[in-house]
Amino acid sequence: MSEIVNTEQAQAWNGPEGAHWASHQDRWNAVNEGFDAPLLDAAGITGSHRTLDVGCGAGQTTRLAALRSPRGSAHGLDLSGPMLAEARSRAALEGLAHVTFEQGDAQTHPFEPGSFDAAISRYGVMFFADPEAAFGNIGRALRPGGRLAFVCPAEPSLNGWVTAMAALRGILPLGDFAAPGLPGMFSLSSPGRVRAVLTAAGFADVAVDPVEAYGTWGKDADDAAEFLLDTGPGRHFLGQVDAAARDRARRTLTDHLRGHGAADGTIRLLSTSWLVTAVRPAGVS
Ligand SMILES: C[S@@+](CC[C@H](N)C(=O)[O-])C[C@H]1O[C@@H](n2cnc3c(N)ncnc32)[C@H](O)[C@@H]1O
Repeated sequence: MSEIVNTEQAQAWNGPEGAHWASHQDRWNAVNEGFDAPLLDAAGITGSHRTLDVGCGAGQTTRLAALRSPRGSAHGLDLSGPMLAEARSRAALEGLAHVTFEQGDAQTHPFEPGSFDAAISRYGVMFFADPEAAFGNIGRALRPGGRLAFVCPAEPSLNGWVTAMAALRGILPLGDFAAPGLPGMFSLSSPGRVRAVLTAAGFADVAVDPVEAYGTWGKDADDAAEFLLDTGPGRHFLGQVDAAARDRARRTLTDHLRGHGAADGTIRLLSTSWLVTAVRPAGVS
């Protein structure tokens, strides 16, 4: 395994946060699946491409990339042991022999230089302590002319799950929850910052485009509220208040989510992400 420099993130993703994502992988895929096709289309993966999936988690996009490149390969790298265990078992169940997974820190992992045609990520690149170093390392793993494509959340106010949690202000100690900062879910929510980081990391032709999709957060409002309150932020805030406040938070969130029911009763929230693409320039070593 590579040297882990993002130690706090490694602890979180090998602890409760990773366990939550691994055991609720189908739910997270239902939440995020609207971004999969735009991401894979933007990466331009075909035929014999070798794809690196950064922060692959339980490997949904790694497997989807592999399906687009039957004569190539897809390799997922992640900090999280529990999520990689889930990734490996899902790839085996699907009989995907050209998918591999590895535990490591994308910021420092000793990738073979120039060994990938594309690098992708679905929400796995916002947690680096040193983003320029991490994207520089990912860039060197790409062949000259190789393509980077990732999705990361846009401003918090454009993401329905944040607005839903914000309904609990006054009940839970939300503080500056979801404020852009480093490292974290919204660390790349400013397009200017994305461009600056990728340019400093040696990428060219950086493009940052908005993409919107509805995700399914639960089969009904109770289910979606329970799920949201069981995520890392939810557990963090609930753990700081008494039982009465926890009950109030649950009821308030359920009422808020009822306003987002689809015709079949499922709770659908709109999310906005940046679809970011960039190229490793030819002629760099
Ligand atoms: C929000 S989850 C997304 C997982 C997966 N891509 C998906 O869409 O289901 C973020 C993932 O990034 C991984 N991650 C965070 N920092 C990382 C790093 N420095 N190197 C490798 N993986 C990292 C975490 O372990 C976690 O699996």
